[in-house]
Amino acid sequence: AFQVKIASTGKTYDVAKDQTVVQALQARGVDILTSCEQGVCGTCITRVLEGEPDHRDLYFTDEEKAANDQFTPCCSRARSRLLVLDL
Ligand code: FES
Repeated sequence: AFQVKIASTGKTYDVAKDQTVVQALQARGVDILTSCEQGVCGTCITRVLEGEPDHRDLYFTDEEKAANDQFTPCCSRARSRLLVLDL
């Protein structure tokens, strides 16, 4: 499990092993627009201010993934214990 922090509110949320970041936030009333939910379309792309995403999408190039400044919360996770999201 890891945590995501919403930069605009400073609130931190746990993401359980069996849920996506989108699901974890939605359960607390924070909605992220999604479409494919499989890492293909790019609809859910969210900027990452701190932390290291664990990219599971098929959307970004390797270079974009290595930059660690955005990720797809419908399917990607975190390598670090905390991701700070530009939301
Ligand atoms: Fe399509 Fe996340 S909803 S990439």
